[in-house]
Amino acid sequence: MCGIVGYIGSQDVAPVLLNGLEKLEYRGYDSAGISALENGEITTIKSKGKISDLRKKVKFEYEGHAEIGIGHTRWATHGKPSDVNSHPHMSYDGKFSVVHNGIIENFVTLKQDLKNEGISFASDTDTEVVAHLLAKYYNGDMKQTILKVLSKIEGAYSLGILCADKPEEIWAVRNASPLIIGLGADENFLASDITAVLKYTKNIYQLNDGEFACLKKNSVQVFNPAGEPIEKEVVAITWNVEAAEKGGYEHFMLKEIMEEPEAIRKTVSPRLGENNEIILDDFTLTKEKLESFKKIYILACGSAWHVGMVGKYVIEELTRIPVECDLASEFRYRNPVVDENTLAIVISQSGETADTLAALREAKSRGARVLSIVNVVGSTIANESDDVIYTWAGPEIAVATTKAYSTQLTIIYLFALYAAKLMDKIAPEEYDAIIAAIQKLPEQIEQILQMKDEIKALASRYAFLEHAYFIGRNLDYAVALEASLKLKEISYIHSEAYAAGELKHGTISLIEDDTFVCALCCCERLYDKTMNSIKEVAARGAETLAVLTDNSPNPGEECDFKLVIPSTHELVMPSLEVIPMQLLGYYIALARRCDIDKPRNLAKSVTVE
Ligand code: AGP
Repeated sequence: MCGIVGYIGSQDVAPVLLNGLEKLEYRGYDSAGISALENGEITTIKSKGKISDLRKKVKFEYEGHAEIGIGHTRWATHGKPSDVNSHPHMSYDGKFSVVHNGIIENFVTLKQDLKNEGISFASDTDTEVVAHLLAKYYNGDMKQTILKVLSKIEGAYSLGILCADKPEEIWAVRNASPLIIGLGADENFLASDITAVLKYTKNIYQLNDGEFACLKKNSVQVFNPAGEPIEKEVVAITWNVEAAEKGGYEHFMLKEIMEEPEAIRKTVSPRLGENNEIILDDFTLTKEKLESFKKIYILACGSAWHVGMVGKYVIEELTRIPVECDLASEFRYRNPVVDENTLAIVISQSGETADTLAALREAKSRGARVLSIVNVVGSTIANESDDVIYTWAGPEIAVATTKAYSTQLTIIYLFALYAAKLMDKIAPEEYDAIIAAIQKLPEQIEQILQMKDEIKALASRYAFLEHAYFIGRNLDYAVALEASLKLKEISYIHSEAYAAGELKHGTISLIEDDTFVCALCCCERLYDKTMNSIKEVAARGAETLAVLTDNSPNPGEECDFKLVIPSTHELVMPSLEVIPMQLLGYYIALARRCDIDKPRNLAKSVTVE
């Protein structure tokens, strides 16, 4: 996600802002910028690329000695990475500069309204809307102006604001996106996380949702959502910088697992209209085009391919278009049957995976229409696709994907529903039921995350396995694939996933006393079938762990251990059952003292063949 810094005091602001932004680099970003206020004028310098690129630009373009300013590292969500889309954003009258973290969910309508009033926009971002609204409503009173603007915008955001008329003040707003105030001696700091201020102070105010603040050189006044002054408790930070980068979690992977509910909210909620219509921005696949497709290929690698396996079941079920989910590294060397009646859905977190990019180009060269599901805005796969639906998971640092996988799943559901509805293939009540299930996912995942201690205890039992098998049928099988990869890639335990029905066709010969078999039994209509598979392996000495829903019969003594999770619509059940599997893999690797965020031999993005 993006990073915010701000400073007001007696130091030269540019170096302080640049140093602060460098402390936020670990969060992942694609551009950066700063604004400095001096002599009633705001100077803004910003650049696509790294902080080092920005530092060079500041050196050559800024000669001021301002002592107040704001800065930002951007992780693109709306609008490609570019100089003009970088933050800070200026208002049309040059009076305001704004940095923003999060998503302004209603920016499209706000932008149109401002355009109708003759205001022109320099960027494609949602943030610029806030800068213009501040200028529009400014009446000399910053608090009233901010309250007015906050009444217009919707979404999850934190803001840093400069006003050229107020050279002694930085204003800060927090709503569902972290923002802290660093308290110094005759200087104060603003930051989206404490790593940016730890060099200067360990005493902070943590702003809560809806609160906003006015930072001066030697005072900070915080206001509640109604604009009433409130007292804040000073929090003394005991973390070191490394712990701070992980938000206090031991590993990025665990932090990113814990972020999954919010990542899903950010990816889904801006795409659901008032009547639960699905809004896919800049989407060009029409009803006619969708109806022209005789086949859908889903092309991806690794966990993204596992998302594709879920997509095969879900998209086929809802659209009745045949779907083949193919490993990109295989597809690119086959002689696939592809033509203008083929849709290729390409899934990639990084948007740079070499095999996936090659498969995209192969499909396109044979006439396919390409839709990609990508997390990195402006990545190569996104740029070469006819349509892109971005996941808004924010930067994913751990090599083992979790929140990107989960947000990709939600895009698969939304696409399948969107297409099915457009082609009149789904009954309204079924459509509404699935939408309701998707909307409930974040709170249900939060419930499952509460099971982490139970899962950690179970993981200690499996920490020294040599082999592990994950089995399931239908969507349970698709999740078994991901469960197996999560375990093997961070714990180095040999692990395989099998369609439960396949066991008797060979693999069951491997089962002996104490062989670990985890059965995913969340597809309730196939519960008995998979429980039978558990009996088959148990009869040969296996130790079994069943993952099932609170809607299923109690397996009793049929399995050695079980994890019971909330139930939901069958087609979105993968989003829930994958969570305990991510946690199980994490805690087994933790017990084995593996390098969880950077497993041996692996890279976050495989940009070579
Ligand atoms: C999964 O945890 C791995 N990091 C790996 O399988 C990954 O999913 C695969 O390399 C695809 O990466 P992409 O989504 O960036 O294309």
